[in-house]
Amino acid sequence: MVTSEPATAPLNLHEYEVAAHALLPPMVWNYVAGGSGDEATPRANRAAFDRWRLVPRVLRGLAEVSTATAVLGQEIALPVIVAPSGRHRLFHEEGERATARAANAIGTIYTMSTAATLALEDIATEAGPWWFQLYIYRDRGITRALVERAAASGAFALVLTVDTPMRGRREGEERTRFAMPPGVMTANLTPPAGDPHPSAASTTEVAAEVNAVFDPTLRWDDLDWLASLSPLPILLKGILHPHDAGRAIEYGARAILVSNHGGRQLDSAVGSLNALPAVVEAVDNRVEVLVDGGVRRGTDVLKALALGARAVLIGRPIHWGLAVGGEEGVRHVLELLREELARDLMLCGLAGPEEASRSLLIVANARNEV
Ligand code: FNR
Repeated sequence: MVTSEPATAPLNLHEYEVAAHALLPPMVWNYVAGGSGDEATPRANRAAFDRWRLVPRVLRGLAEVSTATAVLGQEIALPVIVAPSGRHRLFHEEGERATARAANAIGTIYTMSTAATLALEDIATEAGPWWFQLYIYRDRGITRALVERAAASGAFALVLTVDTPMRGRREGEERTRFAMPPGVMTANLTPPAGDPHPSAASTTEVAAEVNAVFDPTLRWDDLDWLASLSPLPILLKGILHPHDAGRAIEYGARAILVSNHGGRQLDSAVGSLNALPAVVEAVDNRVEVLVDGGVRRGTDVLKALALGARAVLIGRPIHWGLAVGGEEGVRHVLELLREELARDLMLCGLAGPEEASRSLLIVANARNEV
């Protein structure tokens, strides 16, 4: 229906960001928005998409397009997956339950973070296909128990985050003294008894907790141990170097997620999309490659696919949707990306994600824009 009323719901993910910023207390806003150090990497993530321009094909006779694809054999309605991110109850009362339901409603995978604010079993019952993101604890018994709980609750895969031997220094969080409010806790993160590993580098309560429990000594051969704990396929999240992509495959990773943690870990790390082509080349079709960091538009998704990603993940936009409208807001964020991608595929003359290839892209030159 066409009306003369101005639209009130956000029209795109950028408008969700603005709306969420207006709603959230500064501490919570800083938690989601912030990166580490000078925040060079979140900027690099966005700039990497702008480096490319699309070169569409015409007269392809397409009556319709499909955004559907499959990742690790799982069919999904769009090549956009919910990235693992912590503490959803800071953004909406229903927290991760709302996020899991929204992903299921739209037909994509929900990745549950170790730092969820509800028990993993309670979220799992609300989810469609879901992956469990794992941090490895110094106490391997706790890690084992988490993996067993995830497997018993029906996780399809484990996503091991490998870029967090310690937490990046997020100065915005420090400035606002980021701490969990009463009644909200990371329900699956077991606090260390008596904090046996106090770290001078921990700058907030939350960073201290994380640095105390996660194991910085993790090595490649720990993956053999992890694989022995469950039959679940293992994805490695946080690979940027092509040599590491090769090693990940040697050690049995079933997929690689090119990620710099949304610029929240190493400041000045390479933009994810810039790291993608070399990883795709090193992987040489042996496993699927995914990417996250800065995806905000259907055209961003298309560029990632054209550079060889099977699918992308989104982190911050999920929090914006949650803050603005709970389950409905997250569903709308995913729906917007699905609609944008469908339109962009049509305008590029592509019938579906599998048709995106490198010939769709040309590098935009800063001085002589193409
Ligand atoms: C994250 N991310 C993250 N990653 C992870 O492996 N485990 C986690 O618990 C979290 N937690 C988390 C919290 C918040 C608030 C954010 C914003 C991000 C990183 C996340 O999975 C993903 O890599 C980035 O968010 C992707 O970048 P964009 O889409 O936020 O730009």
